Amino acid sequence: MQYHSIHIYSSYVVTKMATQFTAAPQSVNSNADWSTSVLSPMTEKEEQNGHFTSQSRIEFYSSNAETYDEDMKKYSFSGPDVAAHTLHNLLKDNPNSRILDVGCGTGKVAEVLLALGPYTNIDGLEAAPGMLALARAKQLYKNTMEKFLYLNCGLEHDTYDGVVSSGTFVAGHMKSDCLIELCNILKPGGHLVITMRHEHLETVSEYKENFRLTIENLVKEGKWKIIQDETFPNWCFGDNGMGIDGHVFVFQKNLMS
Ligand SMILES: C[S@@+](CC[C@H](N)C(=O)[O-])C[C@H]1O[C@@H](n2cnc3c(N)ncnc32)[C@H](O)[C@@H]1O
Repeated sequence: MQYHSIHIYSSYVVTKMATQFTAAPQSVNSNADWSTSVLSPMTEKEEQNGHFTSQSRIEFYSSNAETYDEDMKKYSFSGPDVAAHTLHNLLKDNPNSRILDVGCGTGKVAEVLLALGPYTNIDGLEAAPGMLALARAKQLYKNTMEKFLYLNCGLEHDTYDGVVSSGTFVAGHMKSDCLIELCNILKPGGHLVITMRHEHLETVSEYKENFRLTIENLVKEGKWKIIQDETFPNWCFGDNGMGIDGHVFVFQKNLMS
């Protein structure tokens, strides 16, 4: 499996946000990343239900959607490549598999998947309308949903052979309990692939406390098994030009879960 080299990602988001919102987060390590100070009433209500993606972040993605692909190319962001190659290795014999790309953004994961195989059945879910509009224009997805994903957000259970999510477990984006939702929407035997920046497992307090615990609880409850839990190089490059590690997780939902 060959992964493209890459760059900055969280610092890209944080820097851009800092120029746009007075209530921008202070750093990726800070609890301020989970701030809800600029939430719309709708998002505050969602947050009471345990949903943590702030309206400011969704607005950020929407208003920067036009430059997202170019910026990620410049930074050689590897998350979508790693996620798509990993899922392809699992599903390549079944191109009609039902796949959901969660937080699909402008469609980078689907672009790679479709270059790898003749997939016919990829859906995209995305909270930021500006990002989703670009994904829709590329005509990559069978169905698209403009939707926030959070625990018990109303998605149909036991639906997808493959669920993939690149770059969505970032401070202030998807909370650890979204793992339960992602497991729920898999068909028995289906696979979930997640790529994220490795250090966030330790530096983002919500993930440090809950991410691996949630994974282990799902194992203990007999819901899924861990297939891959691995660090990989060059998720992005820091300002000093050094590669920053990424992390790839693969889970398989148990047949009797
Ligand atoms: C860094 S971008 C990654 C986009 C794409 N997956 C990629 O790898 O290029 C994160 C995306 O996740 C979306 N997102 C974050 N939290 C979300 C949630 N809870 N539900 C749906 N989308 C979410 C954001 O709007 C944004 O488009």
